[in-house]
Amino acid sequence: MLKPHFRVNPAGHLVCGGVDAVELCEEFGTPLYVMDEERIRDNYRRFLKAFSRRRVRLCYALKANSNSAVVKVLAEEGAGADVSSENELRIALRAGIEGEKMVFNGNLKTEAELKLALRHGVAINIDNFQELEVVGRLAERMRTEARVSFRINPDLRAPTHPYIATGLRESKFGFEVGSGEALEAYRRARGMKNVKIVGIHAHIGSQILDPSPFVEEAEKVMGVVAELHEMGIELEFVDLGGGVGIPYRPEEREVRLEELAERVISAVEEVEEEKGMGKHLLVFEPGRYLVGDAGILLARVEYTKERRGLPRWISLDAGMNALIRPALYGAYHHIELANKMNLKNDTLTNVAGPLCESGDFLGKERLLPKAERGDLAVIFDVGAYGLAMSSQHTAKPRPAMVMVRRGRAALIRKRETFRDLVRLDLLPPWLR
Ligand code: LLP
Repeated sequence: MLKPHFRVNPAGHLVCGGVDAVELCEEFGTPLYVMDEERIRDNYRRFLKAFSRRRVRLCYALKANSNSAVVKVLAEEGAGADVSSENELRIALRAGIEGEKMVFNGNLKTEAELKLALRHGVAINIDNFQELEVVGRLAERMRTEARVSFRINPDLRAPTHPYIATGLRESKFGFEVGSGEALEAYRRARGMKNVKIVGIHAHIGSQILDPSPFVEEAEKVMGVVAELHEMGIELEFVDLGGGVGIPYRPEEREVRLEELAERVISAVEEVEEEKGMGKHLLVFEPGRYLVGDAGILLARVEYTKERRGLPRWISLDAGMNALIRPALYGAYHHIELANKMNLKNDTLTNVAGPLCESGDFLGKERLLPKAERGDLAVIFDVGAYGLAMSSQHTAKPRPAMVMVRRGRAALIRKRETFRDLVRLDLLPPWLR
């Protein structure tokens, strides 16, 4: 079942953003990432609307897809930004997002990165005691005030792949709550001259489809907010991180966003009302939810292979170099043939990439129409953590990316070239 922003035209070709996928490949070549602008906007508005009875800010997590055009679309919608490096911060600024609407996350922010954040008034989500000291020292030297919040570790198990679960005590992130570490961090910050406490932050993991872990997270975070209130520390915002998932498999269901919003808001308001606190600005940091299903990857079927009793092998011109999620997490991405959307999916197929390792596949034992040399495969839901995590393994240039909107297409990232691949290489003097 195709998601509602796709169509199939009478020729049996996939249509995305009003543009025929086959024509896109003729014009821009393969492998090709395609981002649907309207879908990004719809995703943003749907998320915002679900929380509309509260003051809420969506800080787009640039790590999902930091392409300048993608960030610009979300900036136009009014999004803030969750940045996790100096360059993401720069990309967000260039897209027109003000520093005050950004949060800076991560367990390692270098001094250079922190300085840039301080210069632009970005809220820094502090991860450890040493970082707090560094921030205090830098702010003093720069004669400015650091806006800080603290990432707490809620010690929660999120139902997702272990590599992308981040809220457990044994994970590397944040300040522990149970031992009093989190409160101690706030206590120290309160005594610091150039530090202004503005918020609290948690992030339990990514690709979570069930509302319940977010409710538990909100309860844990609000427990700390209540204790801070008792200590006389009031916050501007409560940041619950990212992590809202999308359906990747045909049988998976959409997250019930209204239910999630209702339950999270109730958990927050219960504590606010009980303690007689003012209403906090609620912050979320969605990445995948905003851009994941807005992206597809188009790849050419170059060769096919038959072996008796085994699925048909097809080799695409894109593999783990272009999209590492299947190899890294065993992630499922739905695959179809973009030029044969009207044909029956009747052939058991293994979908391989072009690299020299057996882990290089995009899907195993999939039902597709019988694929022939020259057909076009479409890999769905790659707008988040697709091109962003791609590599140049075996000196393959990274794919190009286009944006589509109402029948128009424009290149938003050039395909890398041989020159790009060798541009940074140098020979030592003795080999010249
Ligand atoms: N905020 C923080 C602090 C994060 O660490 C992340 C993601 C997000 C927000 C955005 O999470 P999202 O809404 O996209 O789930 N490479 C993995 C995902 C890693 C997520 C890392 N942190 C993947 O391909 O599934």
